[in-house]
Amino acid sequence: MENELAVIGLGYVGLPLALTYALDGFSVSGVDIDLQRIESIRTSSLGMREDFDGVPVNDVLRTCLANGSLSVTSKFDELPKDVATFIITVGIPIDKAWALDMSMLQGACAGLGMLLKRGDLVICRSTVPVGTTRGLVRSTLERASGLVAGKDFDLAYSSERIAEGHAYDEFRNMPLVVGGINTRSLDRATEVLGAVNREPVFKASSIELVEAAKMFENAQRDVNIAVADQLARFANRFGIPTWELVEACNTHSRVKILMPGIGVGGHCIPYASPYLFGSLSDQDECVDLLPTFLSARQANAAQPGYIAGRMSRKMGGLTGKHVLFVGIAMKDYSDDVSVSPAVDLATALAKAGAEVHVLDSIAETPKEFQCEKDIDAGSLWADALVLPIRQANVDYDHLKSVALAAAGRLTLCDFRGVFEHDADVLEQPWYVRL
Ligand SMILES: NC(=O)c1ccc[n+]([C@@H]2O[C@H](COP(=O)([O-])OP(=O)(O)OC[C@H]3O[C@@H](n4cnc5c(N)ncnc54)[C@H](O)[C@@H]3O)[C@@H](O)[C@H]2O)c1
Repeated sequence: MENELAVIGLGYVGLPLALTYALDGFSVSGVDIDLQRIESIRTSSLGMREDFDGVPVNDVLRTCLANGSLSVTSKFDELPKDVATFIITVGIPIDKAWALDMSMLQGACAGLGMLLKRGDLVICRSTVPVGTTRGLVRSTLERASGLVAGKDFDLAYSSERIAEGHAYDEFRNMPLVVGGINTRSLDRATEVLGAVNREPVFKASSIELVEAAKMFENAQRDVNIAVADQLARFANRFGIPTWELVEACNTHSRVKILMPGIGVGGHCIPYASPYLFGSLSDQDECVDLLPTFLSARQANAAQPGYIAGRMSRKMGGLTGKHVLFVGIAMKDYSDDVSVSPAVDLATALAKAGAEVHVLDSIAETPKEFQCEKDIDAGSLWADALVLPIRQANVDYDHLKSVALAAAGRLTLCDFRGVFEHDADVLEQPWYVRL
């Protein structure tokens, strides 16, 4: 195996993956059409919160760029001509109506196809609806290159399973599943994946099986989260403490209910059911085959609105009320706000008339909300303090003392159990929990 490869798409997956190969002795080239992204990579000034055995991503980036193990470009024709292994890591966004935008994947394959040579290997690692690798990926590569997959070049699919913030560890230690268009593709891809991954690779009987497995892994988690959130709604209705209820259920050795939250964020779990549905052309068939997944997705998407309703009732309406969010990212300790239930909750509150303020030193405050820097000052003017996630750089002990000093005038909306062990807080009328 050559120790040279190229990564197409340098986002939350592609960039840490490129660095992981670079650290393991590969000469890696990366291409991304986003010029701003390329600039922040070249200047090692990413907002991304990843570390590599404790070394922050920007430091690793600086080293790999300096020693030449990583080079990046925004132009496909600037990739080195002798690279024979390509890994695709671009996304498939969806809109509110669950329509899939395949243009990035198509663009990546068209750009790559122009460079493809006989004997090359392409591994798609994007999360895709069933049939996409053998369909859109293959046909776009073939059209652009004039070559034939399985004959002139090899084509494989292996889903990416990392969680943001844990990329390096999971690239090395999360077991992988791979499928190939033929045995040679499967074997070559297994070797490339195994060069950085320590776990035995599961060689699947088809590409479609691997594509489906990835979606069901995520969709199953969507269902589990819907179970937890609905348990919380039910517990609230009866005044049963949610956390204690989950704890009690989980004493059963075969039960594992998750802790509830304000919804599900990121590009993985919320996209799983839309991708499953996107794999089927007939919408009636979708409802027929996948009713549980549909209903879980709808319930999770509605969770921020449900929480906004509870806050509104507790606060006697939201018109003109100032709510201060501490944390706005899509999950705990993340810098990513692109699919964030905290943003959805803030939007629902704003729609109901509230003024939303955000204090988050890691994730960028969306422009429709006011960015704040100081929790002490906020506690003086805010009507509600909202804790939708845990965030880095927040001193929760200090936050608790500031919030409790203002409690009563200030409604505490604690969706991460920050006050969960303060027995005298839990039953207060100014405390809102899941
Ligand atoms: N983020 C995660 O934690 C995670 C985990 C597992 C799987 N995935 C999957 O991995 C894939 C990538 O996810 P991500 O989070 O890195 O997405 P991302 O949006 O962070 O990164 C994708 C990158 O691709 C670039 N791009 C778009 N079109 C391109 C083109 N034509 N040529 C070159 N580059 C192009 C974009 O500019 C962007 O920087 C998705 O399919 C996602 O579902 C993501």
